[in-house]
Amino acid sequence: MKKFPKHFLWGAATSAPQSEGHSSLNGKSPSTWDKWYELAPEKFQKDQGPEHTTNMYELYKEDVKRMKDIHMNSFRTSIAWTRLLPDGKTINQEAVEFYRSYFEELRVNGVKPIINLFHFDMPWWLMEKGGWEVRESVDAFAFYAKTCFDLFGDLVEYWTTFNEPMVHVECGYLYGYHYPAVNDFKKAVQVGYHTLMAHTMAVKMFRNGNYPGEIGIILNVSPCYPRSESVEDRQAAEIADLLNTKSFLDPAVLGTIPKKLIDCLAESQLLPVTAKTDLIEIEQNTVDFIGMNYYQPRRVKAPERVNHPTSSPEDFYAHYDWPNKKINPYRGWEIYPEALYDVAMMIKNEYKNIPWYVSENGMGVADEERFMDETGMIQDDYRIEFMEEHLEQLYKGIEAGSNCFGYHSWTFIDCWSWLNGYKNRYGFYQLDLETDQRRLKKSGHWFKELIDHNGLK
Ligand code: BG6
Repeated sequence: MKKFPKHFLWGAATSAPQSEGHSSLNGKSPSTWDKWYELAPEKFQKDQGPEHTTNMYELYKEDVKRMKDIHMNSFRTSIAWTRLLPDGKTINQEAVEFYRSYFEELRVNGVKPIINLFHFDMPWWLMEKGGWEVRESVDAFAFYAKTCFDLFGDLVEYWTTFNEPMVHVECGYLYGYHYPAVNDFKKAVQVGYHTLMAHTMAVKMFRNGNYPGEIGIILNVSPCYPRSESVEDRQAAEIADLLNTKSFLDPAVLGTIPKKLIDCLAESQLLPVTAKTDLIEIEQNTVDFIGMNYYQPRRVKAPERVNHPTSSPEDFYAHYDWPNKKINPYRGWEIYPEALYDVAMMIKNEYKNIPWYVSENGMGVADEERFMDETGMIQDDYRIEFMEEHLEQLYKGIEAGSNCFGYHSWTFIDCWSWLNGYKNRYGFYQLDLETDQRRLKKSGHWFKELIDHNGLK
């Protein structure tokens, strides 16, 4: 048996916009997703927008029972900023009742809520003022965070400020997948910086308020592997790591921004506008724990040509297509479980062995009905294999001393996924889009046994 540490957190993650539904109801104001869908529905897979999603707004009590049925002891979701504070200032009482009841339900059923504050869902009222491009967003987020701590602090033991902050930076300001879909490296850096300061000021609010529990941040991590050992390729991997991972991980855990990153941005005239006391705030407001979302590694090589002035991260590193890679053809992502061991070691050796957990890991597969057996259960052996292989590596990392306290899959019930709609399914429960019916998949059974054994056989 490969036993995991005592009290290990086993569970799954989702987010408010991907699971609640009722996106225009019960006092919620629009986020950029609601607005973008209204403006350009054709961008969304099969016209599937954010309004309906999994309907946990109505069904959370039954869904918590489903978590309990598979013995999950923890669950992450987020609060929708636009539901709680529709105009950024006024509290929506209906939202307070909903979230309190939802979090209570989790607690009384032995499922620890891990509550995140921002999962790509920028309020439209703030986006109209410039969103993360403007400093005002930092204060607005800090106010929202404090409101959450005040209203729900007695129910939540683990808070996180952001989910994958690099994603709204690169998808919104470099690669066109999220609103406002612009391609502007300088803006992207400013957006990232304001997000970092919003995170920092939320942590400060948490410390100043002496709330119970702990606070962290969830980052997407794709360890960088260079094509070769050449100086150029290794340098490309180092910069890719600085831009994509260390830009948030260092300030969040160590309280510093890497000097090499600052130098590199300065050389390309990409430094953001900052405020005088920012560095002190960053230094004084580090996190208690880290969540790492791991799906795929990043393989890089030296850039083929460099633009002056620098116009995109690809001027620093180029994507390397490793010929030996194993791929998930539905999502197009490489499958490389070994990287999870490397993540565990990186946190142990470079980040003070801070407590951390795998906050997302999973496999999105299209048309899963193909794998349904005569009883109606999806036989998703590929997902079980995927998770087992990743857990093997995680186990190895824990055995080597890394301070990991949990593993969450993405996701619990198949959910709506931004521009991809319902194309790829990730859940332990299958979702019927017509009826909202949920059905356990084989992986859900497997997960329950894993939790019962607290480890792999
Ligand atoms: C993570 C996000 O990046 O990956 C989720 O936190 C997302 O919101 C998940 O749904 C899976 O990615 P995708 O794009 O296949 O839904």
